[in-house]
Amino acid sequence: MIRLQGVTKRYKGADRDAVHSLDLEVRPGEIFGFLGPNGAGKTTTIKMIVGLLRPDRGKVLINGHDLEQDPIAAKHSMGFVPDKPDLYPRLTCLEYLNLIGDVYGVDAQTRKKRLDYYLNMFQLTEAAGDLIQSFSRGMQQKVALTGALLHAPALFILDEPMVGLDPKSSHQFKEIMREHVKQGNTVFFSTHVLEVAEQLCHRVGIINQGELIACGTMDELRSQAGHEGSSLERLFLELTDEGGSDEK
Ligand SMILES: Nc1ncnc2c1ncn2[C@@H]1O[C@H](COP(=O)(O)OP(=O)(O)O)[C@@H](O)[C@H]1O
Ligand SMILES: [Mg+2]
Repeated sequence: MIRLQGVTKRYKGADRDAVHSLDLEVRPGEIFGFLGPNGAGKTTTIKMIVGLLRPDRGKVLINGHDLEQDPIAAKHSMGFVPDKPDLYPRLTCLEYLNLIGDVYGVDAQTRKKRLDYYLNMFQLTEAAGDLIQSFSRGMQQKVALTGALLHAPALFILDEPMVGLDPKSSHQFKEIMREHVKQGNTVFFSTHVLEVAEQLCHRVGIINQGELIACGTMDELRSQAGHEGSSLERLFLELTDEGGSDEK
């Protein structure tokens, strides 16, 4: 579904790679959590997966399509919610979602069905005619999520989806992710919130300073680190060498 081969990116002027020689495979039907502390390279990796940044080296394959050679086919099978959704503030919610529906060629009947479903779930039906700039951050996040799912993408990618969401919305986001994979699709999301990954993910990858330092199921990771039954948190702190820092 997603295959990264030796993907590397260094920003201009930086003295080390933000992402270094990353190999990763995300399989159909799984929720994959991409974990790492702030600055680890999660967003940079995601931007390369969705085609917003071009790797310096390496290959990105989406559903068998090489992102570099066949970007439209690769992008057509993805839906993406960035960490700070950048919506058009002067469109209404409905205008924005219809624009997205047009871009992805979602027919009118399917569009109406999906919009009804998501807007109702997110209690956005009444506000759907209002300008996006009047929406709270959480509401904007829900609009972004609805837009990203409107074409029912096989691969759903989210960058730190739970940040800034109230508990109810965060629960809804999790349910939507679970629902999406139940239908045979794939979810890839980044987080630095370990509990979220622990609750949701079939497999996780841990990135630290641009390098993948662990990957597998929770059980595999625990046994790799030799801590049967230990919490992912302890494992994560050990692997990223952040133990003893002033965490909240
Ligand atoms: N646009 C940019 N220009 C220069 N450096 C960047 C840019 N974006 C991120 N970085 C750097 O790249 C590294 C990885 O950042 P990022 O991918 O945003 O990490 P994460 O999402 O895991 O917090 C960090 O050291 C960050 O400072
Ligand atoms: Mg980030």
